[in-house]
Amino acid sequence: MEKKEKLYEGKAKILYATDDPDLVIQYFKDDATAFNAAKKGTVESKGIMNNKISTKIFEFLASEGIPTHLVKILSDREMLVKKVDIVLVEVIIRNRAAGSLCRLLGIEEGRELSEPILEFCYKRDDLGDPLINEYHIHALNLATPEEIAAIRDYTFKVNKLMSKFFANLQLELIDFKLEFGRHKGKIILADEISPDTCRIWEVGTGKRLDKDRFRHDLGNIEEAYQEVLSRVSK
Ligand code: TMP
Ligand code: ASP
Repeated sequence: MEKKEKLYEGKAKILYATDDPDLVIQYFKDDATAFNAAKKGTVESKGIMNNKISTKIFEFLASEGIPTHLVKILSDREMLVKKVDIVLVEVIIRNRAAGSLCRLLGIEEGRELSEPILEFCYKRDDLGDPLINEYHIHALNLATPEEIAAIRDYTFKVNKLMSKFFANLQLELIDFKLEFGRHKGKIILADEISPDTCRIWEVGTGKRLDKDRFRHDLGNIEEAYQEVLSRVSK
């Protein structure tokens, strides 16, 4: 597999072309941003840990019937993935109140929710990924009704599977963000699933094991990511 030109550079990852037009290399950086890049920094070895954690989670989800873009892990920081046309809608599930939901609705962090909340955001960094609903999605042709139905169905399944997977590791999945892509006419899970894109609390202690340590200067960020990596590697 030959690594070719850079196709796209995001805040935490870079995509490179390969000699196969259907495959790209996803390279994980140590760069960290928060609050729409208002806060910037680096977290030592974050890229390596996120690549490994994402690979484990994608492999688990694939084994449970969720189609993902993962082909295989190539190196510490590189994952070989199917090339997709990314849907410009980020999907969030919240199992417990945290982050922007608390700011939006004036509720306290950690509040239990009677049922999971599904949110859609328009993937537009220049606008700060605003919250949208299905009417916005259809009016702007961001995805078809069939695509959104598949995305919603996969997202709730992923929530059930990942919540159980983490619970077995004494971790609570508070919330997470997913991105999907179109590949050969089908919707598949893309991007990454890591402590950058999930809130994960240790059961019993409530210790934050995710990017909130960076967002809110809680310290020991590398240790928290390493803890998640060692638990998912069991
Ligand atoms: P929020 O509470 O800041 O809206 O974040 C909800 C979840 O989505 C949380 O697990 C972090 C993740 N997330 C991303 O992966 N990327 C983003 O740009 C944002 C804002 C949140
Ligand atoms: N990833 C987003 C940013 O770069 C937000 C976040 O994760 O808090 O700002």
